[in-house]
Amino acid sequence: MVRTILWLCLALWTTCVDATPDMERLYADLFQTLNPAIRPVANASDPVVVTVGAAIQMIVETDEQNQLLTTSMWMRFSWEDALLRWDPDDYGGTTSLVVPLHNIWIPDIVLYNNADSEFRGMIDTSPHLTHYGVVYWNAPALYKSSCRLNVRYFPFDEQRCILKFGSWSYDASGINLVNRSAAGDMSSFIDNGEWDVIGMPVRRNEVYYSCCPVPYPDITFTLVLRRRPHFYLFNLLMPCLLVSFVTALNFLLPADSGEKVGLVLTVLLALTVFLLIVAETIPPSNTTPIIGKYFIATIFIVSLSVIMTVFVLHLHFRLPGVGPVPIWLRKLAFVSLAPLLCVQASYDHGKPILPTESNGGHLGDIPVKNRKTKKRSRWVSTEDDSNDLTDLARAVASIDGNLHTLVTRCNEQDADEDILTQWKYVAVVFDRFFFVVYVILTVMTTIIILCQPKPYSE
Ligand SMILES: *[C@@H]1O[C@H](CO)[C@@H](O)[C@H](O)[C@H]1NC(C)=O
Ligand SMILES: *[C@@H]1O[C@H](CO)[C@@H](O)[C@H](O)[C@H]1NC(C)=O
Repeated sequence: MVRTILWLCLALWTTCVDATPDMERLYADLFQTLNPAIRPVANASDPVVVTVGAAIQMIVETDEQNQLLTTSMWMRFSWEDALLRWDPDDYGGTTSLVVPLHNIWIPDIVLYNNADSEFRGMIDTSPHLTHYGVVYWNAPALYKSSCRLNVRYFPFDEQRCILKFGSWSYDASGINLVNRSAAGDMSSFIDNGEWDVIGMPVRRNEVYYSCCPVPYPDITFTLVLRRRPHFYLFNLLMPCLLVSFVTALNFLLPADSGEKVGLVLTVLLALTVFLLIVAETIPPSNTTPIIGKYFIATIFIVSLSVIMTVFVLHLHFRLPGVGPVPIWLRKLAFVSLAPLLCVQASYDHGKPILPTESNGGHLGDIPVKNRKTKKRSRWVSTEDDSNDLTDLARAVASIDGNLHTLVTRCNEQDADEDILTQWKYVAVVFDRFFFVVYVILTVMTTIIILCQPKPYSE
């Protein structure tokens, strides 16, 4: 009677959980006396052999600042449980069973290089049990692991991050780990915008830690990640490259426009802002990444161009009364540099810029002085001829004197202007010279820094 009621209750319950009486009996038989804390081996000296496999599902985040890698993985474990075997014929042909995780013994496999409070990382999914005692346990997991990210070649870098799995409590005599395959499974990998997964080799290690005299086996997956540089090329390198080439135009800008220094300083500010962004994306480390080197080199060259511009402006804006352009400078500018740089070297209606052999370099000054002395002496001789006309002569002399002063001043002004124009031409030649120097420097740094050997060959 009691038995029938019990059966009825059981039947009612089993319909609710969608299980047959056979299965119910199997659960009862298997787990009634089972202690999940006991290692399931027939002989206590045998280790439980746990097969470890992993599939990478996605790379959630790489944190270069804190040297962290967050990955979403599917862990795959399997082992043989000597206490969970049954004959399918006794239980209506049931060959497999899904059991709640905490009903059976499970290996305490953790991520050794974990950087999160949650060492396990795995979700408590239910393992699969087969009648010959093999347990298959697949669990999704979110791991935050420590990974030394070397940014020397950033953004052309390749990183190797390890994920080391092992049992925390059992040494090799308690749990032996073996790898499921020679490499991690990458077939379910969801494409990442920043990283390509190149490979995921596996290695089994046995390590003696300083705590204990027994070896601990571990399975180590190495994630080989390669950064996709396009994002950084388009958002950081390209603007920098463009800006530095625009700076070259500064040397073609006329000095009179008054914009020369302003332009270079604006560019310098823009580059500094870019450098700040770069500094935020890379971790602080001893090695400067390629992109950082490039920015520093560009800022250095642009700073140099500020000096060049100021020098050119210094040549261009001379105060009247400044001495003529020294011969060596004239030779350098008009003989050596101007033809080389295709700058037109003649000016002022064909007047020679360089001194001819005869008058030895005092351009403009000498003819004025000569004319002055000659005219004076001729006037003095005419004054002696007649005394009647002294007053008139004096007036004329005064006019002549004034006129002469005027002419002299005019001539001096002309000469001064001549000198100033010469300085301006020197400035133009140097502007062109610095333009060439700047372009060569920029192209060279770009090629040298960006074409450095990469850690991988494309
Ligand atoms: C357990 O294993 C040890 C060593 O392998 C062996 O000497 C012993 O006989 C085994 N015991 C049983 C009950 O099988
Ligand atoms: C385990 O990994 C090694 C390489 O470390 C490999 O040679 C071996 O075949 C792997 N084992 C299995 C079962 O694939």
